[in-house]
Amino acid sequence: MIAYRNLRVALLGAGSVGAQVATLLTEHHDELASRVGAGLDLIGIAVRDVDAPRTAPIDPALFTTDAMGLIESADIVIELMGGIEPARSYILHALNSGADVVTGNKALLAAHGPELQAAAEQVGAQVYYEAAVAGAIPIIRPLRESLAGDRVKRILGIVNGTTNFILDKMDVEGDTFENALAVATELGYAEADPTADIEGYDAAQKAAILARLAFHTEVPVEAVHREGITQITAAQVSQAQKAGYVVKLLAICERITDPASGVDGVSARVYPALIPRRHPLATVHGGKNAVFVEAEAAGDLMFYGAGAGGIETASAVLGDVVSAARRHVAGGPGVAETTHANLTILPIDSVSTRYQITLEVSDAPGVLARIASLFSEHGVSVEAVQQSIASVESGTSESSGTATLVIVTHVASERALSRTVADIADQQVVVRVESVLRVEGA
Ligand code: NDP
Ligand code: HSE
Repeated sequence: MIAYRNLRVALLGAGSVGAQVATLLTEHHDELASRVGAGLDLIGIAVRDVDAPRTAPIDPALFTTDAMGLIESADIVIELMGGIEPARSYILHALNSGADVVTGNKALLAAHGPELQAAAEQVGAQVYYEAAVAGAIPIIRPLRESLAGDRVKRILGIVNGTTNFILDKMDVEGDTFENALAVATELGYAEADPTADIEGYDAAQKAAILARLAFHTEVPVEAVHREGITQITAAQVSQAQKAGYVVKLLAICERITDPASGVDGVSARVYPALIPRRHPLATVHGGKNAVFVEAEAAGDLMFYGAGAGGIETASAVLGDVVSAARRHVAGGPGVAETTHANLTILPIDSVSTRYQITLEVSDAPGVLARIASLFSEHGVSVEAVQQSIASVESGTSESSGTATLVIVTHVASERALSRTVADIADQQVVVRVESVLRVEGA
């Protein structure tokens, strides 16, 4: 039975996601009303151009360019415009007008999350943002609620569909980076300017949001170490395959202790890494996302599904709208997020992991021993070494050619590893350091 007054829902944006949200709110109106205990009436949609063509059939009378006016008469405001401004000002205005806010805007949350949370807390409202990380996959609510009584140790996430699509195509089809990116763009996975995807900015924003929730600590997006996938070559992907690994762009949020200072803190980082093909994240293909959570009591959990797409992301948005509406019906203030732990954010130098280093070296006696001694001098333990002859200059003896050395280490500190690699690069017998890739999930 529905006893509560109908709730007024304002939508800001009717693009890929917003248009689908408008359709679901309208088509599922009665079903949603029964679930919430109150009708959810879409009272208007703010856009830039009221006459622009839409990807879903929407009543043209709903469109307006007066976002502020629309916000002021709403109980729930859904922000799906993207970008920092005017989205930030609109959300602050909505909260100060007493509305709850639902948003999928990871860029805004990563840059201004604490400001928005503080504004919500001050007025007893709530900001919901399930769609901001990994699209349709429920990961915000599990971290914020289901795992609130546990201690998260580490999160390994494939949180950018574009880069996963590219790396998967290189792995499965032997494609080049450039070709795979062109297909990703054609299929609509990549942003119009794919820099945010391929240089890891999008994943870094998501890492900042996940780390904040998992470790109850403010994690500014600038503190997230970020490397993209533009340096990954078809040869590296193929070599990884032969060695039993797959290359994935990972967002990693982890509780760590700096090996030098002993300081406990949080590491948030994004980089392409090798993961063993037996690891569950290795099975995440195409544009799909997955978030692998390691918790103290719960053990390993994996959340998998569509990380983008209009209708898929609209599902996460609607889930938040239902939560916000139920809170209105039940009454009481929104649930504030805590950042009480206030842990130190540690730099990449504090991280310890395994590494794969690929070198082109002179194929001469004593070279391997010299390289091995450098690892030992820096306290980095070598797990495996593989050598193959890369080239032999024509008309000369074999010893004047070069060889490729692929070295995999045991867990070592980033600091020790980078010093080792710097010393190796200085050796006359080393033609070049082809790549240094981290090995995760082993
Ligand atoms: P689109 O670019 O497709 O749509 C943006 C919409 O916002 C358009 O309708 C546009 O109006 C409107 N808009 C933009 N600026 C203004 C403004 N100043 N005033 C009023 N309206 C404005 O974005 P998406 O739907 O793809 O993404 C929306 C949000 O969801 C973003 O924050 C994005 O990061 C997030 N997200 C998106 C996913 C996806 O798969 N697309 C997945 C997960 C999150 P008009 O149409 O008139 O130009
Ligand atoms: N461009 C993003 C991706 C969209 O490829 O994952 C979803 O955030």
